[in-house]
Amino acid sequence: MSFRLRAGAVHTECVSSAPLVSINPESFRADPYPTLARMRAETPICFVPELGATLLTRRDDIHTCEKNVAVFSSDQPGGLMNVLMGRNMMRKDGDEHRRERFVYYPAISPSKVKSYWSAEFARLTDVVIGRLSGRRNADLVTDYATALSGEALKILTGLTTITHADMDAWSQTMIDGIANYGGDPAIEARCHRATAAIDAAIDERLPEVEARPDASLLSVMVASGMPLDQVRANIKLTISGGQNEPRDAIAGAVWALLTHPDQLALALDGMVSWQQVFEEYCRWIAPIGMSPRRIATDFVFEPDDGPPVRFEAEERVFLMFGSANRDERHFDHADLFDVTRDTGPSLTFGAGPHFCAGAAASRSLVGDHALPGLFERLGTPSLDPRAEPVRFGGWAFRGPLSVPVRWDRT
Ligand code: HEM
Repeated sequence: MSFRLRAGAVHTECVSSAPLVSINPESFRADPYPTLARMRAETPICFVPELGATLLTRRDDIHTCEKNVAVFSSDQPGGLMNVLMGRNMMRKDGDEHRRERFVYYPAISPSKVKSYWSAEFARLTDVVIGRLSGRRNADLVTDYATALSGEALKILTGLTTITHADMDAWSQTMIDGIANYGGDPAIEARCHRATAAIDAAIDERLPEVEARPDASLLSVMVASGMPLDQVRANIKLTISGGQNEPRDAIAGAVWALLTHPDQLALALDGMVSWQQVFEEYCRWIAPIGMSPRRIATDFVFEPDDGPPVRFEAEERVFLMFGSANRDERHFDHADLFDVTRDTGPSLTFGAGPHFCAGAAASRSLVGDHALPGLFERLGTPSLDPRAEPVRFGGWAFRGPLSVPVRWDRT
């Protein structure tokens, strides 16, 4: 059965031949994993009216389709991200995308992270840990993860005159703005205020990076001659996508270790690396659970396992990375946090041409500095027994809302 796509922000009518599956948005936000497991087993490609999109939930389907950019396009002309933040490289394909990525990527590539950024992350970790030393209590989300992620993103972007609290607030406000499918004017207005503040922060730094170029993304993009509106859009992309994921990975991985003492012991005894802890945490609870695509042309997809699905041009598809990372076809006991497992097939950072440009920076910040720094310098904390149990939220972006801990110091 085929339905026509309705004009409007959320498409509630199916256009692909995928089966229709209804979800409860509230419980999906609270914990998407049981629903995603059912989808992988019974309807791995399905249209979800509450999300207005066809979801791909199996790892191999996502891996194949994400690389087919001629059909599964990142170019989404009327999309909220373009409208609110400007059209950045994550919303471009082909040469247009390659040209910008070619400038952006070398500034934070694995070799640049090793030769330059890693030492900077070590310095910032020292500073943030210094503020916690001697304290008996902390919320690891606000006091550690948000601060460290924000300080790192300040130097990566070049927006060094702002605070890490600004960085976190602007990032969240833009994320809310681009998910504002209901068109709430208050959310849109807040997003406009955040993007205006980012433009002001860019303007403040421009004369300096023009006079004295540095290693930051702002400086590198400006020095390349990239038009300023593209520079601005890519800085906004970096803020919307580079703050909350390292933050959630830092706080979430610490929580995962504290709630799995056997796994923590493996890390503390050096039986597994902190890097492996980071990779397994992000497999288990992917900080980015979804990335959207637009179907560029009518297309029939034939999965390895399952009936063909016919997609119609202009429909919206969600690549469910969080589900891919729990795919039983690739991971035994996929719902278990197991730091010894092979995380190789996971799609934490996506796949194909839009593979996360900040992957090396995140691995270094979290796996080389934030996790070992906390446990080795401050000692192992315990979850604060007086606090509410830690809650997680979100399915497109997912992380702990707060992680109150205490150190028993004598
Ligand atoms: C744990 C941390 C992070 C995770 C899990 C993550 C995840 C992702 C994912 C899944 C994508 C691919 C989206 C797609 O295929 O459509 C992506 C893209 C991207 N990420 Fe990250 N990210 C992280 C941190 C960062 C950081 C710190 C930065 C920058 C400083 C960054 C910059 C980007 C950029 C620029 C893209 C778009 C690349 C392109 O279109 O070519 N990310 N990220």
